[in-house]
Amino acid sequence: MQVKFCRLRTHQWCFILFNVILFHALLFGAEFVEEYFLHSLPPIEMKVLEIKDKARKLNMETVQNNPSKYYILSQPEVCKEKNIFLLSLIFSSPENRTRRDLIRKTWGNMTHVQGHPILTLFALGMPVLLTTQKEIDKESHTNNDIIEGIFLDSSENQTLKVIAMTQWAVTFCPSALFILKVDEEMFVNLPTLVNYLLNLKEHLEDIYVGRVIHQETPNRDLTSQEFVSLSEYPETYYPDYCSGEAFIMSQDVARMMYVVFKEVSIMVPADVFVGICAKTIGLKPIHSSRFSGKRHIRYNRCCYKFIFTSSEISDTEMPLAWKEVNDGKDCSLFETYYGLISCKLLTYLDSFKRFHLGTIQNNAMYFGD
Ligand SMILES: *[C@@H]1O[C@H](CO)[C@@H](O)[C@H](O)[C@H]1NC(C)=O
Ligand SMILES: *[C@@H]1O[C@H](CO)[C@@H](O)[C@H](O)[C@H]1NC(C)=O
Ligand SMILES: *[C@@H]1O[C@H](CO)[C@@H](O)[C@H](O)[C@H]1NC(C)=O
Repeated sequence: MQVKFCRLRTHQWCFILFNVILFHALLFGAEFVEEYFLHSLPPIEMKVLEIKDKARKLNMETVQNNPSKYYILSQPEVCKEKNIFLLSLIFSSPENRTRRDLIRKTWGNMTHVQGHPILTLFALGMPVLLTTQKEIDKESHTNNDIIEGIFLDSSENQTLKVIAMTQWAVTFCPSALFILKVDEEMFVNLPTLVNYLLNLKEHLEDIYVGRVIHQETPNRDLTSQEFVSLSEYPETYYPDYCSGEAFIMSQDVARMMYVVFKEVSIMVPADVFVGICAKTIGLKPIHSSRFSGKRHIRYNRCCYKFIFTSSEISDTEMPLAWKEVNDGKDCSLFETYYGLISCKLLTYLDSFKRFHLGTIQNNAMYFGD
């Protein structure tokens, strides 16, 4: 058998080689192309220079001196006089104490990566019930890690949440070099993420990185909850933006965003809102396919050691993923390669299955009418 294999003709070898290359090109190619094309920086305009100047001179004293006007819980001390490298703001729903406790026990429990201080906090809006508020107050008292803005926490109010939390970061944590916005259903691999940011270190500014969504069209379906009218957003496509489940901005970007927030309509999805603000300040998002966006990455040890995030993590998967990332043994180059291929294929299969399931269900509904 082995002898036969060695005796393959040149054109047969070429065919095998061609297939191997094609397989990799299909699996990884799109991402390399995306990463290349999405990165080039636009020219700097006068307006952007003005915004930069305003951002540098930003005075947050009104918020600092009167936090209770803007926040129910503001933790003004947690960041004080610390040189935070990465501040993670986990967008959590007020009712979801169990999830917050799970994160506190797993990836949220990290305080340093390679000696760089990191800080993890939960970002909430107000709950509907007063009893929930009482529980949150207690939870906050024990953990000192909850920021709560003055607005109802609902899916429609997520843009307000982004604004309130960015304001918090520039006011109460101006030393944080990077700010991660992440949703509570995500798993975050902080060690690799910090490592990635450290490698960007020649330019700590103008960073807005995540899984970039390209040429997304606004929802113009009048019956939909996410409907966006032409007066709110007249253009055909949204600018490139980072998918909202997890993205990172540098401190200077957060400050510039804060300067332009008032110029942008808040009647678009929260992540699009951030993307429009980024465009206003002349910033293009940086794409990395290691951010999962809203996809759940099938669990594979070496794959999870490589990626930055994975969505829809179940309560049982979370400790497993965390244990591996925190103290599991290292993966060799080959193991990482094999892990990436297998989790990528499985993730594609999952999204394919889901897509078809969705189509079947839609058809069933259609025929059911
Ligand atoms: C969190 O980390 C600290 C050390 O930084 C450790 O002492 C503590 O047991 C951890 N908590 C949990 C719940 O794992
Ligand atoms: C958003 O928050 C405001 C302020 O609390 C509240 O009045 C409004 O009802 C909220 N909107 C939705 C759709 O929940
Ligand atoms: C809490 O978070 C989990 C994970 O994201 C989610 O599945 C669950 O629906 C949330 N529960 C509430 C009450 O929001």
